[in-house]
Amino acid sequence: MAATDLERFSNEEKRNLSLGGHVGFDSLPDQLVSKSVTQGFSFNILCVGETGIGKSTLMNTLFNTTFETEEASHYESAVRLRPRTYELQESNVHLKLTIVDAVGFGDQINKDERPIVEYIDTQFENYLQEELKIRRSLFNYHDTRIHVCLYFITPTGHSLKSLDLVTMKKLDSKVNIIPIIAKADTISKSELHKFKIKIMSELVSNGVQIYQFPTDDEAVAEINSVMNAHLPFAVVGSTEEVKVGNKLVRARQYPWGVVQVENESHCDFVKLREMLIRVNMEDLREQTHTRHYELYRRCKLEEMGFKDTDPDSQPFSLQETYETKRKEFLGELQRKEEEMRQMFVNKVKETEAELKEKERELHEKFEHLKRIHQEEKRKVEEKRRELEEEMNAFNRRKVAVETLQSHSFQATSQQPLKKDKDRKN
Ligand code: GTP
Ligand code: MG
Repeated sequence: MAATDLERFSNEEKRNLSLGGHVGFDSLPDQLVSKSVTQGFSFNILCVGETGIGKSTLMNTLFNTTFETEEASHYESAVRLRPRTYELQESNVHLKLTIVDAVGFGDQINKDERPIVEYIDTQFENYLQEELKIRRSLFNYHDTRIHVCLYFITPTGHSLKSLDLVTMKKLDSKVNIIPIIAKADTISKSELHKFKIKIMSELVSNGVQIYQFPTDDEAVAEINSVMNAHLPFAVVGSTEEVKVGNKLVRARQYPWGVVQVENESHCDFVKLREMLIRVNMEDLREQTHTRHYELYRRCKLEEMGFKDTDPDSQPFSLQETYETKRKEFLGELQRKEEEMRQMFVNKVKETEAELKEKERELHEKFEHLKRIHQEEKRKVEEKRRELEEEMNAFNRRKVAVETLQSHSFQATSQQPLKKDKDRKN
């Protein structure tokens, strides 16, 4: 459709028409409900709070069941996230519930909130990867994105720990946070009231955004706005049943009395259950998708170079952005390749120069040795000549001596003959 057609279409006035009879699209909500019921729902709760603060007990109390629990040690080497998924059924509604425990959080040696942030981001990333697939199956995808973070505050009655403030600040743009004061039976009523006010003012002054129960839907606006004023909920958890009057109720029994979990004058457990499960579960799921996931997705896509408008404020085109990115990438690749090639050539040149230098040194050494050798040879030749001359002189002398000797021998041997001749005569 051309841009002008689009403009005309969107500017066109909508007309209200009355129907002549029953058409049937008023069954749409029923269709949606029945589809959702058959599909089932997933709901994922993240429990953050120091070891032994009562996370598992509260989960068991909330869902009125016994989830597998494994006590955490105070000596974990780092914070680790432990998700456990359960299939629950009430009437004909199926709920795939995942409870994620931040094991080891708040212990002296490993206070770090980073593994929690990473875990939340990983669930967003998995969803984004599924969305970006050519063949997506979001219909039966097990959505593991965290819908709510129950942040367990230690009932000190003092003020929030800086760890709590830092962690909540890091998490508030990624997840719906509902702060709760755990083990509220260990703090007196007047202290609790002051503690709640202090916590809220600290959260506000540190700019921590906690989840607000929505007040835009008329049906729940009133109850939600009342409940917002009760935050943070002070809760007590227990799976123990105690007889009160002639009824068995979940409670914690002490020598001085009984704290009933579901008694609103004892604690805010019922308020938490109402708000979390019965009134706002769908809003928590929706907020996760439309606010937190959307923010993650936007940042991630912007990081990858995608924008809604290009620098000239032209509407964004996925294909153009992709082409530009591809060109940028190829250009970068070429530049890198050229750099590598140049580096290789330089290296070869360097090695060649080194080899040449070595060859020259060797040649010089060889010439030097050759000269020494020639000199030695010349000296030996000279010596040989001298010796030969000496030998010749010696031989000459020897011959002379021999000649002389033979002459004298001849002379001595002729003398007796002469004497004999003289005697005969
Ligand atoms: P880890 O998973 O090991 O970190 O502990 P957790 O936070 O799951 O605590 P858990 O539910 O195992 O409870 C620890 C202890 O606190 C148990 O002895 C519980 O009975 C007790 N407890 C739990 N909830 C409450 C509560 O509301 N008030 C009081 N006074 N004690 C509680
Ligand atoms: Mg536990």
